[in-house]
Amino acid sequence: MKRRAYGFVILFLLLILPACTSESAAPLAPPVEPSKPPSLSEWMESSATAIKSEKRIVLGFSQLGSESAWRNANTASVQEAAEESGITLVMANAEQSQEKQFEAVREFIRQRVDVIAIAPVVESGWESILQEAKEAGIPVVILDRSVNVEDSSLFVTTIGSDFKEEGVKAGKYLMDLMRNRAGPIRIAELQGTSGSAPSIRRGEGFRSVIDAREDMVITQSAPADFTESKGKEIMRGFLQVPAGERPQVLFAHNDDMAIGAIEAIEEAGLKPGADIEIVSVDGSRRALQLLADGKMSAVVECNPLLGPLLMQAAKEIMAGRTLPKRMVPPEDIFTQDRAAKEVGNRKF
Ligand code: AHR
Repeated sequence: MKRRAYGFVILFLLLILPACTSESAAPLAPPVEPSKPPSLSEWMESSATAIKSEKRIVLGFSQLGSESAWRNANTASVQEAAEESGITLVMANAEQSQEKQFEAVREFIRQRVDVIAIAPVVESGWESILQEAKEAGIPVVILDRSVNVEDSSLFVTTIGSDFKEEGVKAGKYLMDLMRNRAGPIRIAELQGTSGSAPSIRRGEGFRSVIDAREDMVITQSAPADFTESKGKEIMRGFLQVPAGERPQVLFAHNDDMAIGAIEAIEEAGLKPGADIEIVSVDGSRRALQLLADGKMSAVVECNPLLGPLLMQAAKEIMAGRTLPKRMVPPEDIFTQDRAAKEVGNRKF
């Protein structure tokens, strides 16, 4: 920080000192003829050359899909931030396919982009494609979800949430909510995409907390791909049990699945938020509205607005600076009493 400040002072002095001294010491210069202003066509030609020669950073971004409100907000954040930072963005939507993400990365390598960003659909299987990028000399930033690779030199940094901590927050909230309720407490879990970092880690974090109470049991658990339609379908199935086996709690790994589940619960003639307590993750406007309406119990925040951090990272990398290996945005938990106030502030 200090070095940077000194740098600014030195740069400032270098810029202003010649101006201060030349006026008093140098002899009066002969009057300069004002140069003829360029014609419109000359000016257009010269500025076009200037724009062409000014090197813009080209960022190739492999987005994993468009399964949720969170994902769409993440895509929009990256697009807006690229525009604002003057970075040329080449983006490809992999529609939940890791194979398509590999193809996109190979295309970015062929195009010789400056930096590659990947939001990986699943956690494993990334070694060889990251090795290809490394051999091509193109730095890679992992965005949102993490990758599970042994060689951490295969990417520069990971920018995204601490998913395990999100699961821990959900678990702690539930433990507190249920502290005076006698067991057994049956929990249904809607997981996200199988093999994805948020699904694995949120599940781990949640279990690490609720395991402290033996009478709190996950009785039903299945993947619902982070989508509203699958959340509804799987929840319908969960409710096809005798009343005494029904879950009293639903932990959904994202808001979209919780919203789908709420529809299924209401269709079954039950009251979400009363007959079944619901905790989910993300913090979308729709979820916060349901929370304010009492149909959900809590929503753990997961921040999708990672575009500005990604652009900053791309610039730092191109300037040759070192970045921390992990960058985690600050996140919160929304409860019913805060939801009504927060709903208007949500960006997605
Ligand atoms: O990776 C982040 C998760 O992916 C979000 O929680 C979910 O909504 C999204 O689809």
